[in-house]
Amino acid sequence: MTRALLAMARTFTPVLRWKNNTFVFRAEDVKEVLNRNQDFTIAEINGPNIERLIGPYILGMDDGPQYQRDIGILRAATKREDGERISSFVRKEAVAIVDNLPKEFDLVQSFTRQLPYLLIADYFGTPGPDRSSMLRWNRSIFWDVFLDLKDEPEVRSAALRSSSEMVPYIKEQIKENKNRVAQGLEIEDNMLNRLIKMQDEDVPSFSDEEMAGNFAGTLMGTLEPINKACVYILQQFFSRKEILKKAIQAAKSDDTQTMKELALEALRFQPNMPVLMRFSKEEQELGKRRIRAGQTVYAMTYSAMFDPRQVEQPKRFLPGRPVEDMMYLGFGQHRCFGNYINLVAIPEMLNVLLKIEGLRPKGKVIKEGPFPDRWIFEKD
Ligand code: HEM
Repeated sequence: MTRALLAMARTFTPVLRWKNNTFVFRAEDVKEVLNRNQDFTIAEINGPNIERLIGPYILGMDDGPQYQRDIGILRAATKREDGERISSFVRKEAVAIVDNLPKEFDLVQSFTRQLPYLLIADYFGTPGPDRSSMLRWNRSIFWDVFLDLKDEPEVRSAALRSSSEMVPYIKEQIKENKNRVAQGLEIEDNMLNRLIKMQDEDVPSFSDEEMAGNFAGTLMGTLEPINKACVYILQQFFSRKEILKKAIQAAKSDDTQTMKELALEALRFQPNMPVLMRFSKEEQELGKRRIRAGQTVYAMTYSAMFDPRQVEQPKRFLPGRPVEDMMYLGFGQHRCFGNYINLVAIPEMLNVLLKIEGLRPKGKVIKEGPFPDRWIFEKD
């Protein structure tokens, strides 16, 4: 839907019902839907898809003891110093890639998918049996869980095949690393090994089975979302001369704060997920309106981020808006767990990339289904 149509919907049909679907367009209502997580639930939307592939995972669960336990364990496996580790790793790897780029190159395969893949290998500790399997697994599972609204059989079967390879791979990796610990050998400090070590500590921890599923979910949430976000941000930069100039200036002076603000504002104009879905099991009131029981509720986050009732001068590209009010990284209970990665890794990637002299796209983004798959660039 275009922004003009969304503006009309906000004015004339702010809550619109069509069969079993209710669309919510205004910022205030979208926030309310995403905040009232007991009334507008996620389990019915994502639960079956996720569980079929990888078992129970937070993004398919409503609030409750299991959600709190699982998110608590995942959070405990991250450290305060991780931000610095992630940014210096990404910077180093990005520079190594950029130093070896030919005059013409595919940005997606060589950079925006490659860097999150390298992060998965290093920081998460799961490189996969090879790069292409890891990329294929993450893409096909994400596609089936979140983006296959038509239930295409090929998408489903590709995801089932991927999870039948990915989950055993992670289990095997857990077994191998635990064997190393049993032999008194050192294991690297990464997310997987932290979760393994927690099993021997006096803290809540996952069983091996749970660890494999939670890990698969977290990897899937990392790779393609970072790829897509970078491509969308660059599409916005390259379609706005003045903004591109500012971004190049920020890159050249290694100003990651300005780059972050520019990147986030670009994501407001082109978010990975323009809508988030929830379910209303019972009849609910939303402001003066009633939402029937049994409806799928579409919280139109893209519309909300352009709602002048809550967003100042929404049509203007204004970096530095309050990130918490924005919904490109989710909102409410399920707000993105990966923000401690996103908010450092993406500006670093862009900083390195936009230092390249004469960098320019040579055509359009080519997609595989909903994912950016190729985008040819050239440089001087
Ligand atoms: C720029 C890249 C990313 C974008 C745009 C993005 C976007 C989102 C969005 C919109 C949600 C909310 C979904 C909903 O409410 O229905 C979400 C949740 C989540 N994201 Fe991300 N994400 C990104 C990167 C990551 C990374 C790197 C990780 C890995 C750690 C990650 C892990 C998660 C998890 C685990 C949740 C669920 C949190 C919960 O249920 O409490 N994401 N993300």
